[in-house]
Amino acid sequence: MDNNTALQPIIEAKNVWKEYGDHVVLERLNIRVMQGEFVSILGTSGCGKSTFLNMLLGTQSPSRGELLLDGKPLNSEPGPERGIVFQKYSVFPHMTALQNIMVADEFEASRLLGKVWGSGKTALKDKAMDQLDKLGLAHAANRFPSEMSGGMQQRLAIAQALMKKPRILLLDEPFGALDPGIRKDMHVLINQIWQEQNLTIFMITHDLQEGFKLGSRLWVFDKPRYDPQEPERYGSQVTFDIPLNTPGQEALIADLQAKQQKEVA
Ligand SMILES: Nc1ncnc2c1ncn2[C@@H]1O[C@H](COP(=O)(O)OP(=O)(O)OP(=O)(O)O)[C@@H](O)[C@H]1O
Ligand SMILES: [Mg+2]
Repeated sequence: MDNNTALQPIIEAKNVWKEYGDHVVLERLNIRVMQGEFVSILGTSGCGKSTFLNMLLGTQSPSRGELLLDGKPLNSEPGPERGIVFQKYSVFPHMTALQNIMVADEFEASRLLGKVWGSGKTALKDKAMDQLDKLGLAHAANRFPSEMSGGMQQRLAIAQALMKKPRILLLDEPFGALDPGIRKDMHVLINQIWQEQNLTIFMITHDLQEGFKLGSRLWVFDKPRYDPQEPERYGSQVTFDIPLNTPGQEALIADLQAKQQKEVA
């Protein structure tokens, strides 16, 4: 890797704003994220976290400013280098686990080659089975999502998001609906995937502990300016940006926890 590549952020926002009419959701976002970082994102409901993730995915675009991927304007449509997992409904309910995993590849292959059949299809199937196996779902290949537990469905969603070998994984409260025990298993899994595949991860969570445990960096989205007469006048920014697992972290975390408790009280 030459020096330029080493210094080039994978994601950069330069004065990014997102507005819906008069409603300012995000304002003046200036951020740089390097390849391999794991950014945990916290913030109150409605502060614009999912909007930010959707802009990274390309299903929403900034109203102003520049959002860059590898230094170039991010495509205004989802690309193979970005995969996403939502809290729910990331997988197709009318397809089995195996079909869910194969569908993206099949679509791509049929676009390039016409209908996929014979040995092409077998190869896609083998690749998909491999992926299911890695995520501990080989035994459930022929089950529909409604026949799977919440944890299994989220594993399937992650398996699906990883099929295209994305460099960036976007997680929108992926474990929010899971029981604590299953959540712990998912933490181990996502940490392993992050390390093994050198992914850059953005994960929204409402669970502070989860954010600390998994992330290498933590952001809080909040409004530094607030007009009680006109709550939609100003947008959120990244008001806290903390490197995790570094010396001095405990003091910062204690501060943040105290602040959150005050907000709840
Ligand atoms: N397509 C849209 N059109 C108009 N307003 C929108 C649209 N999408 C989001 N918003 C508004 O933008 C604000 C931020 O929404 P967003 O979904 O990003 O919040 P969030 O931080 O993810 O909240 P939560 O924690 O509840 O998921 C909300 O007030 C929402 O109503
Ligand atoms: Mg959201």
